[in-house]
Amino acid sequence: MSEKDEAPQMRSAEWFAREGKHGFVPRSWMRSQGFGPELFDGRPVIGICNTWSELNPCNRHLRELAECVKRGVLLSGGYPLEFPVMSLGEPLMRPTTMMFRNLLSMDVEETLRANPIDGVVLLAGCDKTTPALLMGAASCDIPSVLVSGGPMLNGRFRGRELGSGTDIFHFDEEYRTGRLSGEEYAEAEAAMSRSAGSCMTMGTASTMASLAEAMGIALPMNGAIPAADSRRRRIAEEAGKHAVALVRNGMSISRVLTRAAFENAIVVNGSIGGSTNAVVHLLALAGRVGVELSLDDWDRLGTDVPCLLDLKPSGRFLMEDFFYAGGLPALMTRIKDLLHLSAPTIEGGTIGDRLAHAECWNDEVIRPRDQPVAEQGGIVVLRGNLAPDGAVLKPSAASAGLMTHRGKALVFENAEDYRARIDDPDLQVDADTVLVLKSAGPVGYPGMPEVGNLALPAKLLAQGVTDMVRISDGRMSGTAYGTVVLHVSPESAVGGPLALAKTGDEIVLDVPGRRLELAVPDAELERRRAVLTSFEPNVQRGYGRLFTQSVQQAHRGVDFDFLVGCTRLQASKVSF
Ligand code: FES
Repeated sequence: MSEKDEAPQMRSAEWFAREGKHGFVPRSWMRSQGFGPELFDGRPVIGICNTWSELNPCNRHLRELAECVKRGVLLSGGYPLEFPVMSLGEPLMRPTTMMFRNLLSMDVEETLRANPIDGVVLLAGCDKTTPALLMGAASCDIPSVLVSGGPMLNGRFRGRELGSGTDIFHFDEEYRTGRLSGEEYAEAEAAMSRSAGSCMTMGTASTMASLAEAMGIALPMNGAIPAADSRRRRIAEEAGKHAVALVRNGMSISRVLTRAAFENAIVVNGSIGGSTNAVVHLLALAGRVGVELSLDDWDRLGTDVPCLLDLKPSGRFLMEDFFYAGGLPALMTRIKDLLHLSAPTIEGGTIGDRLAHAECWNDEVIRPRDQPVAEQGGIVVLRGNLAPDGAVLKPSAASAGLMTHRGKALVFENAEDYRARIDDPDLQVDADTVLVLKSAGPVGYPGMPEVGNLALPAKLLAQGVTDMVRISDGRMSGTAYGTVVLHVSPESAVGGPLALAKTGDEIVLDVPGRRLELAVPDAELERRRAVLTSFEPNVQRGYGRLFTQSVQQAHRGVDFDFLVGCTRLQASKVSF
């Protein structure tokens, strides 16, 4: 008996193995593409879910990777079918890609449900494409492998290495204070992004690609191999082979994305100095796959993990250097004692198996345990009367001197108010002021944009101030840095206490004590609440309306309430 004869009945057989017109129609139309009849003999159909788009430069090479995946699927006896889904390009989309993460996940889920697909390879890269594709696949509990597009090559400008995003913030400060000319600024623009791939700092794209690897849903080295390196194509081919094996073994995504996998991801996030955005993405993904995960798990499991990766924005190097140093397997060997080594992987083994032969080739990039970049690499969760449901801060990107701080608030009602006033020479602000931004949450903006790392007032930059405490209900780019309190929940637009803050109020930030307080008497806060006007979302139609009506707060991962949980794929009714 052949291996194929022993394999379980494929869902795709409901389309391709039927007698009569219900089989004739799908086979005949698929054969119009030149596919031979042997492809309909009951072999696994592997969807290749592609976020390629010219509107998303980070993912522009994913059609080439799809060809490598197809080769792997065919080599293993599967039938590959590539399909496009919406792509979310950070540099172009407005108001923010985060508003569309859930929409892309729905695109993935519904495409998988509606079509004869038995397993899927997810091709992602730019920030939100990774969580969105995983969330969509998780909602159907389908056998899945994630392949990332990989990071860009290191940027270079006048003898200095340039990191995506991170150095833009530096350049912007230098340009605004006249230390960089317009000509130099334009030159740097061309020098930063010089190949296909995602941001090569430890921004959200690199974080999510690495965490997918840590969770076992992507292959070893998925996070670090540069997009331009031939080995990126090699793991794409391998992914195609593994997808076929997963289907044959009936190993759906929920068998890989277990509670242990999420706990490993939180620990690894601390060790790589990962993006705060990982918090909302993993909370949402866990919700889809039915794993209980809370904001407090981030603090409990991740805070005391030392950051060992010396990468921008927390450190000095870039993703290409991480790859040459041995990548995530090398780093994970250094925190083995903190990981669930028995957690499963898509290869059919365990995380521990992956680490058995990993080696580190550069102790400057991947630091030894006793020489960390930061003692606390993870995400701190703050609570108090300003954030009853929590807020987050990344200590490795913050200033040690501001971890305990009391200062007067300078409140901006929204991002437009901030932009209009921040560089006003008459602005009442000094280095101790706490900058507060409202209306940047999931409902308020809408979409919870990456505006939380508010640029400092030009007049303070000119005085040499490099960091201030900033608080908002928005997010910040994973490539950004500073003493920035983010994801304040509930957000101001739905009546969270942030809505009550006024310029001149005292705010207490106590990171060691995990406190975030508005030092205003309760009676005064009640008076303010009584006259608070209700927020009207500025989108009234279409998807934007669905978003503002259904989105949950940051501590629930900003997912739609009606998308939580999963329903396994079944064959749909025939419609003709
Ligand atoms: Fe696409 Fe950073 S802009 S990964």
